[in-house]
Amino acid sequence: MVLQIVIMAAGKGTRMKSARPKVLHRLAGRALLDHVLAAVAPLEAARTVVITGHGADAVERAIAGPNPGPAFARQEPQRGTGHAVQQAVPQLGDDGTVLILNGDTPLIATATARALAEAGAGTRLALLTATLDDPTGYGRILRDGQGRIQGIVEQKDATPEQRAIREVYTGVMAAPAAWLKRAVMALTDHNAQREYYLTDLVAAAVRDGLEVVSAQPADVVEVLGVNSPAQLADLERRLQRRQAEALMDAGVRLADPARLDIRGELVCAADVEIDVGCVFEGRVVLGEGVTIGAHCVLRDCELGAGTEVQPFCHLDGATVGDGARLGPYARLRPGADLGAEVHIGNFVEVKNATLAAGAKANHLAYLGDATVGERVNFGAGSITANYDGANKHRTVIGADVHVGSNCVLIAPVTLGDGATIGGGSTIAKDAPAGELTVARARQVSLKGWKRPKK
Ligand code: UD1
Ligand code: CA
Repeated sequence: MVLQIVIMAAGKGTRMKSARPKVLHRLAGRALLDHVLAAVAPLEAARTVVITGHGADAVERAIAGPNPGPAFARQEPQRGTGHAVQQAVPQLGDDGTVLILNGDTPLIATATARALAEAGAGTRLALLTATLDDPTGYGRILRDGQGRIQGIVEQKDATPEQRAIREVYTGVMAAPAAWLKRAVMALTDHNAQREYYLTDLVAAAVRDGLEVVSAQPADVVEVLGVNSPAQLADLERRLQRRQAEALMDAGVRLADPARLDIRGELVCAADVEIDVGCVFEGRVVLGEGVTIGAHCVLRDCELGAGTEVQPFCHLDGATVGDGARLGPYARLRPGADLGAEVHIGNFVEVKNATLAAGAKANHLAYLGDATVGERVNFGAGSITANYDGANKHRTVIGADVHVGSNCVLIAPVTLGDGATIGGGSTIAKDAPAGELTVARARQVSLKGWKRPKK
């Protein structure tokens, strides 16, 4: 069966009270519309048309989907969901089923979308419905005495009796393509909002003698729409809870599943422990036995087995070997590549630098654009001066080097294996292997010196 998909994303989202188009608001770090596109991607539709309107340029730019990406149809002005689908009609073929989804209902499951398309089968109108404890704001499903669906009435047009109905339309339907193209063009705007309601298609199907069927999602969370910041936050917590449960099922120990945020993908080996208040962004991979202390933010990182991250660390684009110890208050920036058993302590920043096994920078240091050998000890307050105002230069530190406290290594510069750099040195020339290099003014004491008097 030919499947075509239409996703409506032109609405303003008035209740978000935001300049950002609603479908670009983020859930778990990803635009609402992206969630919907990802859910339907496995259905491999013949074509996918996204209706844009409010903030169309921004929405179309933001959806840099997998190739080939969706097609777009502009809706200007936005006169309701029926009017939105009218804009897609010129791009739709006559065969098979059209699956229509709301761009603001992000957690729809692939299996649910597929099941609905199959229920429609190109011959029926299939509605995804759900029974909610609080149906406020949703269109209500009207059934006759035999339970046959007769129509959908919007909240604003519903009588008090109809508002008591708890079965709602979720915003997902599947319709025979040729029928849909005709029926959607015949909609009118005779209702409370003077809009073309897509939901009026149901009454039209009943009139046309087209069979109307319904299906339900496995979990109501799939059909919760985002219309307000409160609903967005509620959905975020539900999604985070679901992710936390999946991790715990896999054996990850979370100090508190309610105080964890994964905005991307978190992959954990056995015996990982995560304390409260941590945020994971992009793709983060944690090796066996890794422990993450409270209030850490990790983005696009890979940490080796047994590595311990103490509280309040910010790790971004870093690769860390086994048995390392980071923090508290460590900062790793993109290109930080740390070997086994490296120690990075409080207020140490590492950027675009390789630290070989056993290297240590325990306090107050900056290592940028550097290659650091095994077992190097980098003293408190020492930095690589890697930037001359125009270009970045590299610092190369051999194995077993000791850099004292408060040193400035002016790159490009190389410290040979086993070199020792005296505290307070400003090193602008290479330091030979195995020797002590000191580059600071000699200490003098002036005999008989008197303080000036007033
Ligand atoms: C819609 C349904 C309602 C259902 C609910 C489920 C209609 C008339 N009502 O109501 O029965 O219970 O979804 O969440 O369809 N959009 C456009 N162009 C427009 C208007 C809306 O593209 O002119 C898009 C929005 O961007 C959004 C989606 O359609 O993604 C739904 O619009 P919204 O205004 O949120 O509809 P609801 O009032 O929630
Ligand atoms: Ca909505």
